[in-house]
Amino acid sequence: MESLWIKEKDMDKAINLLRNGEVVSFPTETVYGLGADASNDEAVSKIFEAKGRPNDNPLIVHLYDKSQVHLFTNNVPKKAERLMDAFWPGPLTIILNHTTNKASTFVTAGLSSIGLRVPDHPRALALLKESNLPLAAPSANISGKPSPTSAEHVWHDLNGKIAGVVDGGDTGVGLESTVIDLTNPNQPIILRPGGVPKECIEDVIGAVEIDSPETNQVVQIAQPKAPGMKYRHYSPDKPVIIVNDNWTELVSKLLKKGEKIGILASERILNIFENQVDGAFSLGIDDNVHTASQMLYKGLRYFDDSDITVILVQSFEKKGLGVAYMNRIEKAAGK
Ligand code: TXA
Ligand code: MG
Repeated sequence: MESLWIKEKDMDKAINLLRNGEVVSFPTETVYGLGADASNDEAVSKIFEAKGRPNDNPLIVHLYDKSQVHLFTNNVPKKAERLMDAFWPGPLTIILNHTTNKASTFVTAGLSSIGLRVPDHPRALALLKESNLPLAAPSANISGKPSPTSAEHVWHDLNGKIAGVVDGGDTGVGLESTVIDLTNPNQPIILRPGGVPKECIEDVIGAVEIDSPETNQVVQIAQPKAPGMKYRHYSPDKPVIIVNDNWTELVSKLLKKGEKIGILASERILNIFENQVDGAFSLGIDDNVHTASQMLYKGLRYFDDSDITVILVQSFEKKGLGVAYMNRIEKAAGK
């Protein structure tokens, strides 16, 4: 059966579905989430099933404001409080000790910690507030694929597998939230770079380390029979090559090999190569990492559904939001 396409005026339909233990996708400022009542085992297990997500990968719980944090933990360090005040609502997920047993064990994947965030999107906040349900929600894509930045992307991946999709147009940030582990406040660790840059976090709480859980999972869990492919992230089906400044050389080499090239870059670059290649998708008029981040997944998905054979993606400097952008394209390129 087709999923329900839910417009703004029909938000009560989304609320009823969630109250009845169904799974509904909704927009956030980062990417679309796939939400379910975080305390309902059966509802949460439907998320994993729809996405084909490994059940040892925990979910973020979405709240409408800071006052709901106490539902999940009575241990909120000062640094966490300061980050909430500085960046919520916004693209920052804070991992704290889960001390209340409020969340389904499927949400935490059996860990003693829990990821919490208040999304900065009117439709997400309305859904959270009016349902009065904290919502467990991963990105609403098939596991391993680029996250959805429009309701159409969600529909493409999950129509028929979930109860509904709330349409809120294109998302603003385009990349997922920054995930920071504060279970030990003396050693804050960024587990995933995202919408809030490290520099901004350090302005508020001082030095933080960077780690990547996804990379570690591949190293630690991969076994001969399961070569870690299921933990690949943000990857289109087509091969991705990251390009710094060797565009001319690379394009001519790939053309000689008979490849059908799709270029994902700013118009400054597209203008030079447009007539030589099979596909061009704009990451913005000029080289702006915010616009590029917003358009990245849309571009990867666009080429995945086309007949090009290789995707060339523009690189950006690894500072500010550029750290998250480069993290995602390096994963897409299988690094
Ligand atoms: O922007 C976002 O964060 C989006 C929107 C929908 O909120 N959500 C999202 O969720 O990207 P997901 O599930 O695709 O990625 C969440 C990441 C995963 O890498 C997961 O392993 C990690 O956060 N995570 C969640 N809870 C955790 C926990 N308790 N400890 C460590 N890592 C956790
Ligand atoms: Mg995801």
